[in-house]
Amino acid sequence: MNSVTNPYSPGAGSPPPELAGRDALRAQLQISLARIRLGKPAKSIVMVGLRGVGKTVLLDQIRKDAEASGIYAVRIEAPENKSLPALLAPQLLQTLLRLSRVESALHNAKRALRALAGFAKGLKVSYKDIEVGIDYEPEPGLADNGDLDVDLTALLEQVGIAAKDAKTAVVIFIDELQYVKNNQLGALISALHRCAQNGLPLTVVGAGLPQLRGMAGNAKSYTERLFDFPMIGPLNDAEAEQAIVKPARAEGVDYDREAVAAIISKTRGYPYFLQEWGKHAWDMAKQSPILMSDVEAASNTAIAALDESFFRVRFDRLTPTEKTYLRAMSDLGAGPHRSGDIAERQKRTVSSLGPVRSSLIVKGMIWSPNHGDTAFTVPLFDEFMVRILPGNDWET
Ligand SMILES: Nc1ncnc2c1ncn2[C@@H]1O[C@H](COP(=O)(O)OP(=O)(O)O)[C@@H](O)[C@H]1O
Ligand SMILES: [Mg+2]
Repeated sequence: MNSVTNPYSPGAGSPPPELAGRDALRAQLQISLARIRLGKPAKSIVMVGLRGVGKTVLLDQIRKDAEASGIYAVRIEAPENKSLPALLAPQLLQTLLRLSRVESALHNAKRALRALAGFAKGLKVSYKDIEVGIDYEPEPGLADNGDLDVDLTALLEQVGIAAKDAKTAVVIFIDELQYVKNNQLGALISALHRCAQNGLPLTVVGAGLPQLRGMAGNAKSYTERLFDFPMIGPLNDAEAEQAIVKPARAEGVDYDREAVAAIISKTRGYPYFLQEWGKHAWDMAKQSPILMSDVEAASNTAIAALDESFFRVRFDRLTPTEKTYLRAMSDLGAGPHRSGDIAERQKRTVSSLGPVRSSLIVKGMIWSPNHGDTAFTVPLFDEFMVRILPGNDWET
């Protein structure tokens, strides 16, 4: 088939041609955000799931839905090495400047800008990475204490007041939320708690790896009352079929039934893999309909492409001991596995492997679905590890 019109889009954060299976959650978010805007109670949403299930593209879609309804969106992605205050400050500045152009919000948006100035100044000592040029003088005592918990609460409260004056809501979209440090996550949760108590139209929609749920619970005990953590998983068969078939049909191309079934079974419905298989099956096929044999022939190139991108970027960030740990895990199958079994496979003790396991969790490679269990955050990573480190050489 013509590669130029190939509709599929494998890639981190690449919007899919068809966002399958997420309508219910999108609709739920639209209702929650509309309620928040009216000052009515609604929980903040943090979407959790493995890598490649489509959290980022869903978060972006929800943001676009919100913006289309007149909500002011702040979008940030937490990298591993930047502080939350440093990420938030410049984005909030833009939002507040926009709000200050709404006449009814002018007064409180200006006060929020002074709060932001105090926030940046007060926290500069502890968070040296804050860089934001604000033409406003801090108001003494407003968000300038130098304590993140106190100042973030005061700042977001003031932003919420300005949003209310403008009859809108400010929604902060944060991707890769698991990389936000515990104390900063805790501060964000307390600030949201205050806004919720006061019926202010400000909330967070987050996305990240499954360990977030536990992290947020550890940061503040009342997290469960404030947040919902919907699990974003692979698509079911009907949704996966839609993700594959609909984009092709829009280009006048059909699939043989068996070909679709083969893609679903090879990808297990994981969105990233669906895009990759769709792309390669399309390129392989000579004509419509795309056949089972095209899918079979495309599997090698699809796997090679995943190995070079999706899997490889994660593998390259690992130390030799981390690689050994994950390879031992992979030897036991897809998982989750008991920490004791993984240690035994390496002829080591659980406690001696504690530091490696912790660093793999911090890097977002593994997580613990239950106490003592360890699972991959990247679907099918076990098969990749066996492909890239075949045989037994890794054991020595
Ligand atoms: N609902 C969906 N239907 C079809 N494809 C999807 C869907 N969600 C995501 N994708 C595709 O999956 C890939 C990974 O999406 P991404 O949002 O980056 O995942 P995550 O953030 O969970 O790692 C992208 O290529 C995207 O186009
Ligand atoms: Mg993502």
